[in-house]
Amino acid sequence: MLNTEEKQEIEVQLALHGDGRTAGLDALKIVQRHRGWVSDEAIIDIAQVLGLTAAELDSIATFYNLVFRRPVGRHVILVCDSVSCWMMGGTALQKQIAQRLGIEPGCTTPDGRFTLLPTVCLGACDHAPVMMIDDDLHLDIDTANLEHLLDPYR
Ligand code: FES
Repeated sequence: MLNTEEKQEIEVQLALHGDGRTAGLDALKIVQRHRGWVSDEAIIDIAQVLGLTAAELDSIATFYNLVFRRPVGRHVILVCDSVSCWMMGGTALQKQIAQRLGIEPGCTTPDGRFTLLPTVCLGACDHAPVMMIDDDLHLDIDTANLEHLLDPYR
């Protein structure tokens, strides 16, 4: 069930957009900001506020790879695996992060600190390799400094 704050924020977006479908992504982001991810139950509750079916809202949620439909860690690391980053060492970067965290891509560390997710192009190809931690975009990653990149995220 949505809490009062979530419901109010979603209703504001619905009023701004004037349509449940166009407000859908913002509504999903609101719930994700509050809870860290968007469960099946939340999809049903959000859809009800927006006047959509759960299937309609789920199709929006699954289209955007930044809407998390499963629980994630406190910080989400998105490592680009598209062509420019691949050519500039993105695969090695992803391997190094996975080894450092002791998890496979797609998984969360046992302490819940990080989730590591490969992702499509993050739109900064001229600065490959690129990764994003939460809302922070990290460019031209030097794997020698990887520790310094991860340290601030507790
Ligand atoms: Fe990695 Fe575009 S290919 S940011």
